[in-house]
Amino acid sequence: MRITIFGSGYVGLVTGACLADVGHDVLCVDVDADKIARLNDGEVPIYEPGLEGLIRQNRATGRLRFTTDAAEGVAFGLLQFIAVGTPADEDGSADLRHVLEVAETIGRHMTQYRIIVDKSTVPVGTASKVARVISAELGRRRLQLPFDVCSNPEFLKEGAAIEDFSRGSRIVVGTDSERVRSAMRECYGPYNRNRDKLMFMGVRSAELTKYAANAMLATKISFINEIANLAERLGADVEEVRHGIGSDPRIGYHFIYPGCGYGGSCFPKDVKALAHTAEQVGHPAEMIAAVEAHQRASEEPPVRDAVPGLQRPAGRQDHRAVGPGLQAQHR
Ligand SMILES: NC(=O)c1ccc[n+]([C@@H]2O[C@H](COP(=O)([O-])OP(=O)(O)OC[C@H]3O[C@@H](n4cnc5c(N)ncnc54)[C@H](O)[C@@H]3O)[C@@H](O)[C@H]2O)c1
Repeated sequence: MRITIFGSGYVGLVTGACLADVGHDVLCVDVDADKIARLNDGEVPIYEPGLEGLIRQNRATGRLRFTTDAAEGVAFGLLQFIAVGTPADEDGSADLRHVLEVAETIGRHMTQYRIIVDKSTVPVGTASKVARVISAELGRRRLQLPFDVCSNPEFLKEGAAIEDFSRGSRIVVGTDSERVRSAMRECYGPYNRNRDKLMFMGVRSAELTKYAANAMLATKISFINEIANLAERLGADVEEVRHGIGSDPRIGYHFIYPGCGYGGSCFPKDVKALAHTAEQVGHPAEMIAAVEAHQRASEEPPVRDAVPGLQRPAGRQDHRAVGPGLQAQHR
């Protein structure tokens, strides 16, 4: 199957390399000419275990290619993945500039049916925005071409990205189109042999699923830090408490390491964006807002540096003192 991926960052590169490795023909497009030149020279701009080898092998077979030529990208794949960045805007909302730029590019160059796959983490309603931008571009070209936009959020975590992509617990696809379902089945078929991991749902549900997942994990981290602060004041040992609650399979050991709160490239911006979405629909989500406030507090300068004699609460550990377990809490 021919697949184009816009954005050769963390998610785009892992997606491209993995899909090429299972036999698809993949063309990765990026606006960063330097990055593409380095990739074409065999250099991998990020460190992710196993990625360099995967890219090398699949470039050698010709199944994985890199270009800055967006028109070539649009002409290439039936599936057009959007895997560009969605950083936090000043007001906390997700900045969709890059996503909508790609939509415009697709509308400007497409000449036949295309399936646009939103893999970037984007707020509910973005698939409709992408569709509107493509329609507007087609309108400017006085063309009426069929296309579908679906949502396929990514759940990989940096450091275990290839394993997560290839053997993740689920593949979420938001669409109401049978044509898209069938194309996505073909795309992810090789990952689906052991059991059916594809979860088809409505587009808006798929978009919300990604934010709900990250907000849930961030909540677990903020929660254990709250307990750590309490433990310190109550003379309890949060490590013992962590073991005590983690042994309950309904709670589990993941994401309950007390420490400096959540970090990484996604949790902070995704929690903010979900809080912003909630405000926008007139439902200030109190739990999400509390998680965000807790995180902000944990980022403040340590209290003991300001007031001699005062101890830093357990939930406000020095960021340099992150334990090994904490690394896995970043996503
Ligand atoms: N990094 C993660 O661990 C992770 C995990 C799951 C989901 N996500 C989500 O995936 C998306 C991408 O994240 P990332 O970490 O890969 O971002 P990134 O910043 O590493 O890469 C984004 C790439 O997109 C390129 N780009 C920007 N505009 C473009 C355009 N118009 N056409 C082509 N390329 C363009 C940039 O040059 C850059 O190389 C984000 O929405 C992020 O929230 C990230």
